[in-house]
Amino acid sequence: MPRDARERLVDSLLERMTLEEKLGQLNLIAAGEHGTASAAQLALVRQGRVGGFLGVVGATPTHEAQRVAVEESRLKIPLLLGYDVIHGYRTIFPIPLAEASSWDTAAARATAGAAAREAAAAGVNWTYAPMVDIARDPRWGRIAEGAGEDPELGSAFAAARVRGFQGDTLGFDNLLATAKHFAAYGAAEGGRDYNTPEVSEHTLREVYLPPFHAAITAGAGSIMASFNEIGGIPSSANRWLLTTVLRGEWGFSGLVVSDWTAVKELQAHGVAGSPAAAGALALRAGLDMDMQSSIYADDLATLVRGGAVAEATVDDAVRRVLRAKARLGLFDHPYRGADPARERAVTLTPDARRLARTVAGEAIVLLKNDRALLPLGSQARHVAVIGPLADSRNDPLGPWDALGDSGDVVTVLAGLKARAPRGTVVRYARGCHVTDTSTAGFAEALGIARRSDIAVVVLGETQDMSGEASSRSTLGLPGVQEQLLEAVARTGTPVALVLMNGRPLALPWAAEHVPAIVETWFLGVETGHAVADILFGDVNPSGKLPVTVPRSLGQVPIYYNHTNTGRPWSATDHFTSQYLDLPPTPLYPFGYGLSYAQFRYSDLRLSATQIGTRDTLRVRVTITNTGTRAGTEVVQVYVHDEVASVTRPVRQLVDFRRVPLGPRESQTVELSIPPRRLGLYDEDMKFVVEPGWFHVYAGPSSAEGLDARFEVVAEN
Ligand code: BGC
Repeated sequence: MPRDARERLVDSLLERMTLEEKLGQLNLIAAGEHGTASAAQLALVRQGRVGGFLGVVGATPTHEAQRVAVEESRLKIPLLLGYDVIHGYRTIFPIPLAEASSWDTAAARATAGAAAREAAAAGVNWTYAPMVDIARDPRWGRIAEGAGEDPELGSAFAAARVRGFQGDTLGFDNLLATAKHFAAYGAAEGGRDYNTPEVSEHTLREVYLPPFHAAITAGAGSIMASFNEIGGIPSSANRWLLTTVLRGEWGFSGLVVSDWTAVKELQAHGVAGSPAAAGALALRAGLDMDMQSSIYADDLATLVRGGAVAEATVDDAVRRVLRAKARLGLFDHPYRGADPARERAVTLTPDARRLARTVAGEAIVLLKNDRALLPLGSQARHVAVIGPLADSRNDPLGPWDALGDSGDVVTVLAGLKARAPRGTVVRYARGCHVTDTSTAGFAEALGIARRSDIAVVVLGETQDMSGEASSRSTLGLPGVQEQLLEAVARTGTPVALVLMNGRPLALPWAAEHVPAIVETWFLGVETGHAVADILFGDVNPSGKLPVTVPRSLGQVPIYYNHTNTGRPWSATDHFTSQYLDLPPTPLYPFGYGLSYAQFRYSDLRLSATQIGTRDTLRVRVTITNTGTRAGTEVVQVYVHDEVASVTRPVRQLVDFRRVPLGPRESQTVELSIPPRRLGLYDEDMKFVVEPGWFHVYAGPSSAEGLDARFEVVAEN
């Protein structure tokens, strides 16, 4: 619908709406049982008291809810039908943290697109994704849902996912996207979910806000406010955040939705003494839709009639909700072509599964591979597959698995058996459960390990140990899994450790003693095939860590883009920033990941050694695959601003590229550093590019690379 026509429609509806109908548009409620709207809820829809549902899914239930809205309510306004389509609807793709390990934004766009297609055919029109929270603390279970610790990588994935969900035109195969949780939700102190962050405005702007800005620039239709507070103001009531920054500075014109019961929680935060006061605070702050508190719908009319809340404020919020509906085309096509036949036709298609397998293969990170233990060659005639996650069907789906079905999952064991060459004997023993305290199953596992040429040990976390409300206070392997690993290693049979988990795990013993380690996170329905592709060498690992892996919990928070301090660590000076009992480095740095090929970097060249503050610097570097297998290297470019008016990160990612290279092939690639990547928020919170010298690094991780220098000079 053209913009003018849309505005006329919105105005004419607003003119005709009662106050109750207006507040109804701001009311977002959760489905009853089995993903359907209950009779009582449909009665509210008929009265115009509901603007949208979350969790009503499936072509038939969504059709019924939508039909009641557009045929039986007075103004016939269609519903927003939201759902958490995070990394798939029925075809479950790798969790977002895993997908970020691919550094392949096109892949993220593709999986978001595929997920949207399935969900849209089931009548959903709005997703509560992407989660774009930067996470620097692996205790926080929701680290699994985002792109890791880096604002640049996070912004690239935020934009890609928005484009994937929404497509170019927000057509019938697409969903309205929601960048969440605004803001600094991932900075929860102690990694404890919902906890208060202590974050300066500077860090907020430099680290936590950029992915939201990127999502908005990519066209995200909505933003979800976070549960947490910042500086004493809960986000749901934070006018500075939701209005001054989001709408004022950034020009966001979309819809802001609360998180689940977050309006009501303003009382628990202690900033509102009653539901009505909570509603008034949130609405005035710029929060348009109230998810599941029913405070706007139930308590605000009295305040508006009494003059405590201006009706114009309500109208503004309603306008934004109606515009979102218009943007989705709901006034003309409320069902957006969703029906059971289309739903069946697009669900879990071979194409979607193929995409899941490819992306899962790219997401796997090879952390260690001593003496080229992997890939498994013809000498591996007897393979022992050990561990509680090897034959698990639920866990590979990871948190937020929407309509994912464990029956769709290819387990690691099944994948390995399917791929093992004829004549190879694959034996399996669980050894223990993930949280077991008993070692009773060890004997069987050790028995098969002793009879094998290699032991593939699959350990980690269960599906529900990450995600919302799933923070952990330790970063080791739960239960007796570490003991199992050590016992298998003591048999003398070489071990390939396959990790399945939703957060970085600190496993120093394994890093030292286990010859091969493969991080798979949670890879979704094609887990087993993707793991087999990697272990047998059909796919060469190319994933790189989107997050730092600590040596121990005591190092947390540890992230690569820290500032230098006045006393950076030094081996020769005791009075520097360090622990007495740990090296200063992490177990594995951000950006790290191995390949079965070897890559050499050479000839780092800059397009200039001096650029103006508005210029883009081009960085050329040659990568050579010195190995005998084709592989893909993720080339990473970082900068360090040597002297600035505020302290700068020791390194900061500014660009990256996946570069496929055949055996012995060389390629010179060009990456670029636009001025905004060199900028900073100064003392007055103004974004500026300051003149001065920068270091630039090009390499395979945040801890390595070739380097050069260039100068930024003031423009006349
Ligand atoms: C989560 C959100 C989610 C919402 C709706 C909340 O508990 O924090 O991320 O979108 O529930 O399911």
